[in-house]
Amino acid sequence: MKVSFAKRVMIQDFQGEFVKKMLKSATSPDLIPFSGGIPNPISFPVEEMEKAAEAVLEKNGVLALQYSTAQGYLPLREFIAKRYEKKGTHVTAEDILITNGSQQALDIIAATLTDPQDDILVEDPSYLAALQTFHLYFPNIHTVELEQDGANIQELQSILKKHNPKFFYMIPDFQNPTGLTYTLEKREKVAQALKGTDTFLVEDSPYGELRFKGKQQPCLHSFLGEQCIMVGSFSKTISPGMRLGWILCTHKELREKMVEYKQLVDMHTNIFGQMILSEYLAHNDYDKHIEKIKELYRHQAETMIREMKAHFPSSVSYTDPEGGMFIWVTLPEGMTSIQLTQRAEKAGVLIAAGDPFYETKRNVRTFRLNYSNSSDEVIVKGIRILADEIRKMQEEK
Ligand SMILES: Cc1ncc(COP(=O)(O)O)c(C=O)c1O
Repeated sequence: MKVSFAKRVMIQDFQGEFVKKMLKSATSPDLIPFSGGIPNPISFPVEEMEKAAEAVLEKNGVLALQYSTAQGYLPLREFIAKRYEKKGTHVTAEDILITNGSQQALDIIAATLTDPQDDILVEDPSYLAALQTFHLYFPNIHTVELEQDGANIQELQSILKKHNPKFFYMIPDFQNPTGLTYTLEKREKVAQALKGTDTFLVEDSPYGELRFKGKQQPCLHSFLGEQCIMVGSFSKTISPGMRLGWILCTHKELREKMVEYKQLVDMHTNIFGQMILSEYLAHNDYDKHIEKIKELYRHQAETMIREMKAHFPSSVSYTDPEGGMFIWVTLPEGMTSIQLTQRAEKAGVLIAAGDPFYETKRNVRTFRLNYSNSSDEVIVKGIRILADEIRKMQEEK
C-alpha cells in the first residue's frame, strides 16, 4: 500500500535527523552526552512526588481521574501567577493556559496565529524544535541575527517594517542553543522596536529560573504587556516527563482563541499530573529546590569552561552562560561542526552540530555543548577528547 503523507510531515527531514541523533544521548550510556538538553535527575523530587500523588488520590481521586477543563487546574495556574507577581509581573490565574510542556505552548501559539505564507520571525540561531513546530504551518520564516547581547536591532527594525511578522519568537534567558542572555538595554530596544506594530513577541523562558550568576533581568512582558505572550515550563526545574508548561497571555481575545484551540487538539492537559504537581508545590520549598539545581549547573558550567580554556586551541571561541544548560562554541575558519561531530562520535563524545539551529545556514562552524547531565570526570574527559579532535582537524588542514 502506498502512503501519501501530508506535506507537513515530509519537510522535516533535515532537522528531524539531527533531533534523532541528539536524543541518542539519552539512550547511549557509552557515549559522553554533550549533545542533548537533558536536565540532571537532581531536579526530579521522586519521593516528594510519590507523597503528592498519594495525597491527590486520597483527597481528590475522582476529580484527578475525571475529564477536566481546557485552561488547566486552577490552583496550579494560581501558583504560576503568584510567582510572576512576586517578580513584579502583574497577572492572574485567568491569564494562564496550562499546556503539555512548553513545546505544546509553541505549537498552540503558531497554530492560532499562522496561516501558510504568513511571515514570522525567529532568532538566528534558535531552538531547533521550535523551528520544526513553526514549519508545520508553512510560514515564511525570517531570521534576525543573535548577537552577544541579544537580537541585532537594526535588522529587527527592518524586518518588522518590511514584513510585519505575526510574531517574533525569542528566548531572552540563557538561550537554547547559545546560552546567551539579552541585556537590559537590548530588552528595552526590542520592546521599543515592537511597540506600535501588530507583531506579538513570544518570550520563551524555560531556563529563566536557572540563573547561577549575573543580575536578574526584567521579562519582556514588563515592557510590552499584552503584546507579549510568555511561555514557561516545569521541565527544567522539576520534571520534563510530567510534560507541564504554560502560556501566559494577557491579551484576552488571543488567549480565549488559544484555549479553544487547546480544547480542539487534546481537550486538556493531564489533570492527574497537574494536581500532583500542584500538591507538590503547595507542600515543598520550590525556591530551595531550584537553588540546588542552580548550584549544580553553576559548578558544571564552570568545570566545562575551565577545561575548554585549558585545552581548546585559542582560535576556538565560546559563550560563558549566566544560567541554563548550554555553551555555544565557534570553531576556527575553515572547519565545520558537522565534521567535528562525526569525528567526536567515533571518539566517544556526542555534540550538537550548529546547522539545524539555523533556519538556512549550513556547514557552520558552531556547535552546542550541554553540561547539565555530566559529572566532573565526564566533562573533563569529554572536553579533552574534543580538544584532541579539533587539534587533529587543524593539523590536517
Ligand atoms: C527554548 C525551549 N523552549 C521550549 C522547550 C520545550 O520544553 P518542554 O516542552 O519540556 O517544556 C525547550 C526544551 O528543551 C527549550 O529549550
